[in-house]
Amino acid sequence: MNQTERSRSSYLTVAQTRRVYDRIGRIQDLQAFYEHRAVARLVACGDFEHAGSVFELGYGTGALAKRLLTRHLPVDARYTGVDVSPRMHELARRRLQGISRSELLVSDGSLRFPFGDAVFDRFVAAYVLDLLSPDHIDLVLAEAHRLLAGGGLLCLANLTEGATRPARLLTRIWRTLWSLHPALVGGCRPITITDYLDRMSWSIRHHTRGTTLAITSEVVVAINSTPADARR
Ligand SMILES: C[S@@+](CC[C@H](N)C(=O)[O-])C[C@H]1O[C@@H](n2cnc3c(N)ncnc32)[C@H](O)[C@@H]1O
Repeated sequence: MNQTERSRSSYLTVAQTRRVYDRIGRIQDLQAFYEHRAVARLVACGDFEHAGSVFELGYGTGALAKRLLTRHLPVDARYTGVDVSPRMHELARRRLQGISRSELLVSDGSLRFPFGDAVFDRFVAAYVLDLLSPDHIDLVLAEAHRLLAGGGLLCLANLTEGATRPARLLTRIWRTLWSLHPALVGGCRPITITDYLDRMSWSIRHHTRGTTLAITSEVVVAINSTPADARR
């Protein structure tokens, strides 16, 4: 990522993000048409069957939380999610009604999370980092590193640069829309998440790009490679 990317001013503020996602509400689920395959890969590669605790940034309508809690996580595993949108919180709360072991928090947009070090086995963010500024992505990854226990997995999916000719064209159109009116594309733009992953801290286990209907997504699963005791 270059300096231009860092200095752009199209990133939504927290207040704008909340407004945009409160308005989008359940329409967010329609994006499954292009997110579906990437999220399936994230779930398949995230080894959730062996996770005792999961943290999700930006749970949206709670679709992934429900899928993990009902189909993948051990019965005694805990799920904690934060989202900045009260409307999303309400939708996710209804979706997870009756499922214990989950905690859904509405955040003030802060990317410093109120949990101790090394307390989660998975840190998940699906289509969230692509709406944050580069400095905020760095902050989230530092927090993920702090929150994950040694051997814990970072599980990310995001929009990325088009991998086919139609997808490259769409990337150009998408970026133009994002620069002119970011709310129109939910504040998201294609990013390359591996550019942000510090090789000293993360060891990449899985990295793929896949294109659905000219929209390319990237999935990364990385292991927190610093042993917990080396971080104290
Ligand atoms: C594109 S949606 C993705 C939702 C869900 N993960 C999915 O894949 O359907 C982005 C979500 O991130 C949330 N979000 C954006 N910035 C956030 C922040 N700073 N803290 C917490 N949630 C945030 C939004 O409210 C929204 O629900």
